Amino acid sequence: MSLPEHIAIIMDGNGRWAQMRSRPRTYGHIKGTRVAKKIITSCSRKGIKYLTLYAFSSENWMRPKGEVSLLMSLLKRYLHKETNNLVKENIFFETIGDLSRLPEDVLAAIAKAKKATSQCTGLRLTFAISYGSRWEIASAAKALARQVADGTLDPEDIDESLLNAQMHTYPMPDPDLIIRTSGEKRLSNFLMWQAAYSEFYFSETLWPDFTELDLDLAIGNYLKRERRFGALTTSQNPTH
Ligand code: IPE
Ligand code: IPE
Ligand code: MG
Repeated sequence: MSLPEHIAIIMDGNGRWAQMRSRPRTYGHIKGTRVAKKIITSCSRKGIKYLTLYAFSSENWMRPKGEVSLLMSLLKRYLHKETNNLVKENIFFETIGDLSRLPEDVLAAIAKAKKATSQCTGLRLTFAISYGSRWEIASAAKALARQVADGTLDPEDIDESLLNAQMHTYPMPDPDLIIRTSGEKRLSNFLMWQAAYSEFYFSETLWPDFTELDLDLAIGNYLKRERRFGALTTSQNPTH
């Protein structure tokens, strides 16, 4: 087994981490942003090709206004502070999600980071912001329905690859490894289409405590697994 080409992380547990220290949840988000920065650099240096980070889900809009606006301003501050470093590290920055719901200043910071890193050829870093798989799949269905209505697509021609090409992650490969921190064992509307054959790694560590060592543990665990994709491996196949 070789290094995962695409790692996706559900960075969970910021609020609990802060609450355990009798601090506001926002304190956990601030620490969590620093951890994200470290993990991004670490993946880049390891030669991981794709890293997708779940930063804000479509359901996270339901959180209290103050928490939502703190998360938005952290995102903006991260991009302002880190864009130059991303370029230095040759990291290409991308987003997936319904950006139409984001405040103007955050959108501007995103556009600036995308433009600055557009020539970078190293790690492809994707932030999932205002992202939900069900929304993504519904948008994909809508896009194909429009082509059918225009007369440019025959419904009989709709197959997995056409639908896949409408996903926001296209043309990235599917995640090989999906990590979720904080002990929760669910996808929370993250990459449901793309996770069909992903390997899952659940860490009890809360995201603000997650270190490069935890990342190494996750990758090490992944390397020991046998992926079958529904077929038989050579050792299982009686004709071999
Ligand atoms: C993850 O931490 C960050 C976001 C969802 C934006 P949480 O805020 O979900 O922290 P917990 O799960 O409440 O501890
Ligand atoms: C998923 O975490 C979203 C992010 C990490 C950005 P949540 O904390 O929102 O998920 P639930 O509510 O526990 O399922
Ligand atoms: Mg959570």
